[in-house]
Amino acid sequence: MKVNENYLNLEASYLFPKIAKKTAEFKAQNPSAKVISLGIGDVTQPLAPAVISAMQKAVEEMGKKETFRGYGPEQGYDFLIKAIIENDYKARGISLDTDEVFVSDGAKCDVGNIQEIFSADCTVLLTDPIYPVYRDTNIMAGRKILKVPAIKENNFTPAPPKEHSDIVYICSPNNPTGATMTKEQLTQWVAYAKKEQAIIIYDSAYEAYIQDDNLPHSIYEIDGAKDVAIEVRSYSKTAGFTGTRCAYMVVPKTLKGLANGKEVSLNALWRRRHTTKFNGVSYIIQRGAEAIYTDEGKKQIKETIAYYMENAKIIRNALKDLGYTVYGGQNAPYIWLEVPRGQTSFGFFEKLLTQCALVCTPGAGFGEAGEGYCRLTAFGSRENTLEALERIKKL
Ligand code: MLT
Repeated sequence: MKVNENYLNLEASYLFPKIAKKTAEFKAQNPSAKVISLGIGDVTQPLAPAVISAMQKAVEEMGKKETFRGYGPEQGYDFLIKAIIENDYKARGISLDTDEVFVSDGAKCDVGNIQEIFSADCTVLLTDPIYPVYRDTNIMAGRKILKVPAIKENNFTPAPPKEHSDIVYICSPNNPTGATMTKEQLTQWVAYAKKEQAIIIYDSAYEAYIQDDNLPHSIYEIDGAKDVAIEVRSYSKTAGFTGTRCAYMVVPKTLKGLANGKEVSLNALWRRRHTTKFNGVSYIIQRGAEAIYTDEGKKQIKETIAYYMENAKIIRNALKDLGYTVYGGQNAPYIWLEVPRGQTSFGFFEKLLTQCALVCTPGAGFGEAGEGYCRLTAFGSRENTLEALERIKKL
């Protein structure tokens, strides 16, 4: 039996388990250290009360013969899809049909799985540094990968290159740099995709963190984007669903690919894949997700986002006061910290871990252009965030 040799081209372990392993080793050697993690972007504030009561109600329904539900639709329940279209899109002047939205158990899975519907011959374009799932899943599929650096010289928002590519991944607000594309910049990427007949996978998992009203929340705010872009959103960071998991992906019916020179609907291909390989998100969780669109739910998640964004501001200001150069954290929950001259990102990670019992994410883990940086998240509790900064001060 031969294995998929493409896997041998991957690094031995995925970035976040690697960091978790190093952290666990440190904890084992230093059992009394109070380790603070501003590493993986996991949230710390509980689910909103509106979400909890919707989930509780759904649990009750599952316990009664009259309201019990078995297998749900793989694509998602209509009540959630309609709430998504109404609130996340119609409110921004974007119209979508219900069969263009696919509810899932995470943006990570969606951005990882969508590549299955494309040919192995496609060339993938990634900005570098980048959320590693885009890179690793395409390495697994054996695709050629091109990179455009997202560096301080281009404000971490690169313009499209001259080279051809077939699949482009854009994450905005960006993980890890925290940079956010403007409408003008996204317009250039949509034009590039049209010219190259490429598809953009637009990951807007962090759109709820945008503070500047001029910045786009959806790629469909750009004219013509429905002809070239798939959009991914998540409730993990928007509403604290990292432990309950719910997300969705929009695959417009206007998107076409080619098979033997003939046009094929990407929506139809994804529907086939999703309904075959995915069981659907549980009814209880989808009712919880629906509740974030109620007046109460909207208010509650806004408060939590404001809490995290205050953390981001505190981190940015404190690090600047200490003489560090920082980026991001203004329209995103990530702060991209330039590590002191002469140190590597993994070296600085080790230093923070061993000297401050503080976990960050080394920039090089997100790609070569991430070398020289570390990412800190604003998702910690206020208490831990302040304590982490005190420890960095003593470094
Ligand atoms: C991150 O830290 O980059 C994210 O939390 C990872 C994820 O959402 O999978």
